[in-house]
Amino acid sequence: MTTQIKTSKPKILVARAIFPEALAKLEESFEVRSNQEDQIFTPAELKKELSSVVGALVTGSERIDAEALSEAPNLKIVANIAVGYNNFDIPSISAAGVMATNTPDVLTDTTADFGFALLMATARRITESEHWLRAGKWDKWSIVSNPLGMDVHHTTIGIIGMGRIGQGIAKRALGFEMKVIYHNRSRLSEADEKACKATYVSKEDLLRNADHVVLVLPYTAENHHTIGAKEIDLMKPTATLINIARGGIVDDLALAEALKAGKIFAAGLDVFEGEPKVNPELLKLSNIVLAPHIASSTEKTRRAMGDLAIQNLRAALDNKRPPSLINAEVFKE
Ligand code: GLV
Repeated sequence: MTTQIKTSKPKILVARAIFPEALAKLEESFEVRSNQEDQIFTPAELKKELSSVVGALVTGSERIDAEALSEAPNLKIVANIAVGYNNFDIPSISAAGVMATNTPDVLTDTTADFGFALLMATARRITESEHWLRAGKWDKWSIVSNPLGMDVHHTTIGIIGMGRIGQGIAKRALGFEMKVIYHNRSRLSEADEKACKATYVSKEDLLRNADHVVLVLPYTAENHHTIGAKEIDLMKPTATLINIARGGIVDDLALAEALKAGKIFAAGLDVFEGEPKVNPELLKLSNIVLAPHIASSTEKTRRAMGDLAIQNLRAALDNKRPPSLINAEVFKE
C-alpha cells in the first residue's frame, strides 16, 4: 500500500495522494513515506506511520488525536491539506508539542464560487432538470409543467458562519442584488459588515427571514446539528438550505424528512454526516442537489492547498514559524 525510499534525509509521511510534481519536490529534501495509492489508513496504521516521522501531511480523513500521537516522539508538525481541521484534536496535538497547520485563504474564492453554484443549482433545480431531460420526460416546452424553481436575485440570503468564505459568498450575493443577513459566533467589524452590506441577526431571525440559508461554519461539538428539525421548522416553505461546511452541522435524517414533507423547497449538500457514506433517505429525494465534498476542488486550488501545506511543513522542520499555524499560542515567537 505504501512506498518507502531509503535515504538519510528527515522522514515525513504523506498520508494521502498528492500531485506527483509536489511529491517529487518533497523527495528532493525528505525521505518520503507516501501513500499515492490513496487507501485511507486505519487509526492503527496511521499511529504506526506517525511513529517514525518528523512531519506529516494529512487530510480530513486522518484523525490526529492523543492515540494517533502516542508513539510519535519525533513528530514536529501535522500539516492539514484543508482549511477545516475538525480531524485535529488540538489540545492533544498541543500537549504532544506538535505544530498543527491548515490551508486558509488559498481556497476562499473557489469555495465561495462553489457555494454560490450549489445555491443556484438548488434553487433552479438544475440537476433535477437534467435527470428529467435524460429520462426522456421533455416532450415540449411548457409554461407550467417544466421544472419550476425559486428565484435567487433580489431575495434574502442568510449566511451562518461569516468567516472568509462566508464573506466571499456575501460579496457574490451582492451581484445578484440580494439582501445579506448573517449569523456568526462573533459579530464582524463595522468595516467588514459594510464591505458585504451584511446585517447581523440571531440564528432564529435568519432562519425565519432568509430565502436561501447557506452554512459555512466550522464543525465543533457546539455546532453539532446546528440545523435540525426545530430549526428547519422556522424556515420558509419556499427556502433552500445549502451546506458547504461540514457533515454533522446538519441533522441529515431530519433534513431528509423535512424535504420529503415539503417543509422547505430544496437543499444542496456538499458535505454529509459520516461521509463518504450518504444517508440513503437523502438519496431517495429529487429536491436536493448532492456533491461529493468538492467545494475547493479546482486543480489550481487543490495544488495551492498542497503547496501551502508543504510550506507549513518545511517551515516547521526548518525551525521556523509555519505561515498558518493553528496552535500558535503554544509556540510563542
Ligand atoms: C475542505 O473541506 C476544507 O476544509 O478545506
